[in-house]
Amino acid sequence: MKLFVIGATGRTGREIVQQALEKGHYVTAFVRSPEGSSLTNERLTVLKGNVVDENQLFEAMQKHDAVLSALGPRKVFKPSSLLHDSALATTRAMSRSGVRRLVILSAAAHFPGIPNRIVSFVLRGHMRDSRAMEAIVQASGLDWTIARPPRLTEENYTSYRSREGAAPKMGFTLARKAVAAFMLDAIEQQKHFHKIVGIAK
Ligand SMILES: NC(=O)c1ccc[n+]([C@@H]2O[C@H](COP(=O)([O-])OP(=O)(O)OC[C@H]3O[C@@H](n4cnc5c(N)ncnc54)[C@H](OP(=O)(O)O)[C@@H]3O)[C@@H](O)[C@H]2O)c1
Repeated sequence: MKLFVIGATGRTGREIVQQALEKGHYVTAFVRSPEGSSLTNERLTVLKGNVVDENQLFEAMQKHDAVLSALGPRKVFKPSSLLHDSALATTRAMSRSGVRRLVILSAAAHFPGIPNRIVSFVLRGHMRDSRAMEAIVQASGLDWTIARPPRLTEENYTSYRSREGAAPKMGFTLARKAVAAFMLDAIEQQKHFHKIVGIAK
């Protein structure tokens, strides 16, 4: 498949790119700083662009099969509308270009429960932005899947538990490698259309 990755230079994004290439996909990494992408592969194209610019996204994503986003603000305590703005630009660009499949990374803190409410309060600016991103995606009319993991780790495994509409029970962390595996599986297996999916170790 031909995959378009946003946030490809991040810790989860790099895993998505690497695993996608290992699985034989063609990958376009849409990045603000191409120097941040150290991977080279004949099936990888690194394109410099602005993730909130609908027209740039539209031009770049032509003829792709799916878009994956692991975008996240580098400073989570600083007020930002990055996720909302990028979701708006991305979904509009997808609608215009006919790319229908979107798998996007959000956070388990949006599920109910006291620990999640505490996280949502501590990271309230980021969580508000992330909520706004989810609302845009859900209203997009695209074939979307929203992945909501708990705290991400650098552990070395790709297995995960998933549950549509709720967090897997007693799942407090998940490796970024496993998040990437889930997002790619959702695309390859054509699963979780129009679903918010809780994922965890
Ligand atoms: N950390 C956790 O425990 C946790 C838990 C649940 C959910 N999440 C969610 O997972 C997502 C990704 O997490 P992560 O740790 O993989 O992120 P990360 O390593 O911080 O990577 C963030 C990515 O977003 C890009 N980015 C940030 N600001 C940008 C901007 N203004 N313009 C263009 N690109 C920009 C970064 O590009 P550069 O390389 O150019 O900076 C990078 O590719 C976050 O949205 C977060 O909400 C995180």
